[in-house]
Amino acid sequence: MSVITVDDVELDLPPGPGSLTHRLTATLRRAVQTGRLPDGTAVPPSRALASHIGCSRWVVTEAYGQLVAEGYLEATTGSATRVRGSVTPAATTAGHNLSPPPRPRFDLAPGVPDIAAFPRSRWAEAYRRAVLDLPNDLLAGRALVATTAARTTLTGFLRRTRQVQEDPTQLSLTTGSSAAIGWLTALLVRLGHTRIAVEDPSWAGLRSVARRGGLEPVPISVDQHGLVVDELHHHRDVRLALVTPAHQFPVGVALSAARRRELIDWAQRVDGLIIEDDYDADFRYDRRPVSSLQGMAPDRVILLGSLSKALSPAMELGWMIMPQQLILALLGLDLDRVVSPSPLTVEALSVMIERGWYEKHLRTQRLRYRARREHLITALEQYLPDAEITGLAAGLHLPLRLPRATVTQDVIRRANRLQLGLTDADRYRIRPDQNPALVVGFGNLRDNRVDEAVRRLARAVHP
Ligand SMILES: Cc1ncc(COP(=O)(O)O)c(C=O)c1O
Repeated sequence: MSVITVDDVELDLPPGPGSLTHRLTATLRRAVQTGRLPDGTAVPPSRALASHIGCSRWVVTEAYGQLVAEGYLEATTGSATRVRGSVTPAATTAGHNLSPPPRPRFDLAPGVPDIAAFPRSRWAEAYRRAVLDLPNDLLAGRALVATTAARTTLTGFLRRTRQVQEDPTQLSLTTGSSAAIGWLTALLVRLGHTRIAVEDPSWAGLRSVARRGGLEPVPISVDQHGLVVDELHHHRDVRLALVTPAHQFPVGVALSAARRRELIDWAQRVDGLIIEDDYDADFRYDRRPVSSLQGMAPDRVILLGSLSKALSPAMELGWMIMPQQLILALLGLDLDRVVSPSPLTVEALSVMIERGWYEKHLRTQRLRYRARREHLITALEQYLPDAEITGLAAGLHLPLRLPRATVTQDVIRRANRLQLGLTDADRYRIRPDQNPALVVGFGNLRDNRVDEAVRRLARAVHP
């Protein structure tokens, strides 16, 4: 099977049966039908694609011609041939309303990674290896979720990239940070905790899970140095804090060295615990990622991580590192097991890491996101100079302050009509703030749509 790349989307060209023209046509048609090649995507020039596949140019022009005739592609003289009328997955599964709503054409949702860059071929290969090699014991049940070797590989990776301090027995595999916090909440409530300090603003996903599990969230402000640790001292009954130290979501700052120290001192003083949500720490563009808080205080910090930003939330794979004394406290409790992922997925990730494919993917994505962020900033400076970009060169989003008199909800309504998906910063605030702002995600924005997205944003802000 060979792989062709169309606008960063990897498509498998199956080996046969059928003529190459037929197979190429079918591959491209399917990619348009399923929405993998969205409306407006330029397909490669026929000469370039033919040379990549190693076939005559005629094969490609025939395939393109057929798809133009069927209405899937549109050829314009003097310009690239483009996808036309891509069908979203929702429309192809007519009648079944569980499919997610189609994403807007210009998708600025924060936190969504570059889905088109998902390393499909590598992952398929790693998964194949996992299926062939997984010991029978692991296929027999879900009690064990990883071989010792897979656990050691993942621990080694986290030591290398996040400077964590752990041994493989402290690592629990999870189906993601949201599931992990649900499980942790049950444990922490059993250990007597009733309230949890959370950053204001922050992603509601994790704090609402904690609230439902019986921990009352206590909002603590965030400034340019991260969590304002001093405010914790006003809440004597709080001994838990949920933080995003590497890259605060959504303010986009890192917890400063002084605040890290203060936070750890606080945890020691109150005999408390810090939950470190390490959600997008792989993506720092101006320097190496700041190391984890867990590495500084392994007896006070629970680290949560997942593949949701690095690969896709659909992986449903994450990890949690717990202090030894918490693991001991667990033993006497009658708790459900941590929500465990499939042993096959864990094994496949371990293959990806061992072969260097996972870190290579992170490196490629880091370069790609960095260039896209710079492109986005240049476009914002040109088309929307009265908005202010804040936050570090990191992650998959940037905070954008709008001109003072702007009514953010009006901007979002106008943007919707322009097929531009925007997110109000208010959505993450627990206590209201008067400053109009957006949280602009660029993870899943196609490079060739950045300028047009920003032009539409400028029209939505200044109609
Ligand atoms: C701030 C933050 N933390 C954590 C997560 C990851 O959650 P999960 O691993 O459950 O997908 C997200 C995902 O959107 C997030 O935005």
